[in-house]
Amino acid sequence: MDGIYGETMVNLFTPLDIGDVELRNRVVLPPMATEKSTINGNPTEKLYMHYEKHSKGSGLVIVEHSYISNDGRLSTNQLGIYCDELIDGLSELSEVIRSQGAVSALQINHAGGMCRHGITGDIVFAPSDAYFEDTNPLSLEDMKRIKDDFVNAAGRAMEAGFDAVEIHGAHGFLLGQFLSPITNQREDEYGGHELENRMRFPLEVVKAVREAVDGVLLYRLGSTDMDDKGLTVDESAIFANKLAEAGVDVIDVSGNLSGSRPDEDEQGYFVPMAEKIKSAVDVPVIGVGGITEPAFADKIIREGKVDLVAVGRAQWRDPDWVSNAKEILSK
Ligand SMILES: Cc1cc2nc3c(=O)[nH]c(=O)nc-3n(C[C@H](O)[C@H](O)[C@H](O)COP(=O)(O)O)c2cc1C
Repeated sequence: MDGIYGETMVNLFTPLDIGDVELRNRVVLPPMATEKSTINGNPTEKLYMHYEKHSKGSGLVIVEHSYISNDGRLSTNQLGIYCDELIDGLSELSEVIRSQGAVSALQINHAGGMCRHGITGDIVFAPSDAYFEDTNPLSLEDMKRIKDDFVNAAGRAMEAGFDAVEIHGAHGFLLGQFLSPITNQREDEYGGHELENRMRFPLEVVKAVREAVDGVLLYRLGSTDMDDKGLTVDESAIFANKLAEAGVDVIDVSGNLSGSRPDEDEQGYFVPMAEKIKSAVDVPVIGVGGITEPAFADKIIREGKVDLVAVGRAQWRDPDWVSNAKEILSK
């Protein structure tokens, strides 16, 4: 593959084919919640303008987490994907992103024990009541319903014209809560000490979504809790392998109970985790974490540490980050 420099070596500006879509470069705008939706989860003009402004450069734009059901909603002005009436507004959103030349993905989420009754007015569910206060352990029946909610949400994203769907399995939200031994102390086949049990529900969700959805499927993997008693990257590498086997096309590696922005100021703070995951799978992997410099982003692609680089806050600050990077790296 030739990059902008006429080189054969893969670099930040080498296009990448995933399924039926081509990404124009290796830069990803990672999902970042804007709180610009209505109280019912509908996109607003402000949200369209935001994505128009920030979709100019990246190959892939992943739209912020959208809630798949009322009991999985995190915040008041969060984007929603819990019912068919939201499809029209989301169609406009996917079109805005496409008009800027980017491939579009929508992240779908259930926040589990991170939800607040004061916001949802609903029961707050978690895998077990071990970690979060005032939560109800999920029954098998509710898990089945939530799995269906993920499937229906993914179907709506496709209907709304998104090229891809990203299942949110990071940052300590519901699927990440299942994977972590700290938040998942269930005593049935979906929990406890054994990794095989902790990954069972996330994998069931992925398989069900994969069966229902034709487009590109990404999984945001919370790869570490950064806690001695928590999820390890070695466990995540095993899980990543299962995700790829289940048909996930891209693995987007971030943190789990540590959140997305732990107390780290080193550029690329989740890249070592992504590198480890990449060595365990044969699908493209996204690396993220405090990346600001084009040379750093380009280097980790050239060195084959990751296949794609997510640049979040730096692109929010500078919507021309990608074109500036092209200029800087061509010198
Ligand atoms: C304001 C804000 C909102 C975020 N919302 C989400 C989200 O909806 N889903 C998600 O997976 N990550 C979310 N993140 C995490 C980012 O996707 C990204 O992983 C993090 O900002 C680190 O990358 P960066 O240093 O390039 O910004 C958010 C981050 C910020 C700053």
